[in-house]
Amino acid sequence: MQIDIVTLFPELLSSPFKASILKRAIKAKKVIVNFHLIRDYAENKQKKVDDYPFGGGAGMVMKIEPIYRCISQLKKEKTYDEIIYLTPDGEQLNQSISNTLSTKKNIIILCGHYKGVDQRVRDHLITREISIGDFVLSGGELAAAVLCDSIIRLIPGVLGDESSALTDSYQDGLLAPPIYTRPAIYKGWKVPKILTSGNTPEIEKWREKQALEKTKNTRPDLMNNQN
Ligand code: ADE
Repeated sequence: MQIDIVTLFPELLSSPFKASILKRAIKAKKVIVNFHLIRDYAENKQKKVDDYPFGGGAGMVMKIEPIYRCISQLKKEKTYDEIIYLTPDGEQLNQSISNTLSTKKNIIILCGHYKGVDQRVRDHLITREISIGDFVLSGGELAAAVLCDSIIRLIPGVLGDESSALTDSYQDGLLAPPIYTRPAIYKGWKVPKILTSGNTPEIEKWREKQALEKTKNTRPDLMNNQN
């Protein structure tokens, strides 16, 4: 998979790719991540990438020309499955979207800033708009890091234990059950007995029940999707 990230502030985004699972995925060539600086595509002398909104109002708007030039250049070199714009008014990211995106070959992610991009970018260049939640960040870069992490860990061969992504919260529509490791007793706090019983079918039943209970208590909205 190749992910091309179009951004004004790559420094906000680089560190998540330099550690742990994402670093390993890049080293193992499971994914190529490139940063493209929008400012490099600004043709004016001042390298201006934003301007005042037509009709007035607070905040600046990211100009269409440098974004168009950058994305057009990328599209000359490759065919992209999706060109994603990260924005608080996009469709809300969930595990199903990450699963789908992890199967793509090439994607572009455009990070917005200020009041956002000129609407014509969204109308004519973007294929999908994604929000990472109902809150507003200073820009799309941190959201891009979240999106990339959620996608890259799902690429086959990236996680050490292949099955571990399948037991994540949300993969079966439920939150994950509690997990424990040694010691079995710490400061008098005990691990549930069933987990040290060696009785795999009963452990599975216990985990299912815990997952259901946790989901009912913490995210009752997800229960509507259960049969
Ligand atoms: N940019 C600013 N806020 C955002 C959000 N919640 N999701 C995606 N991109 C954003």
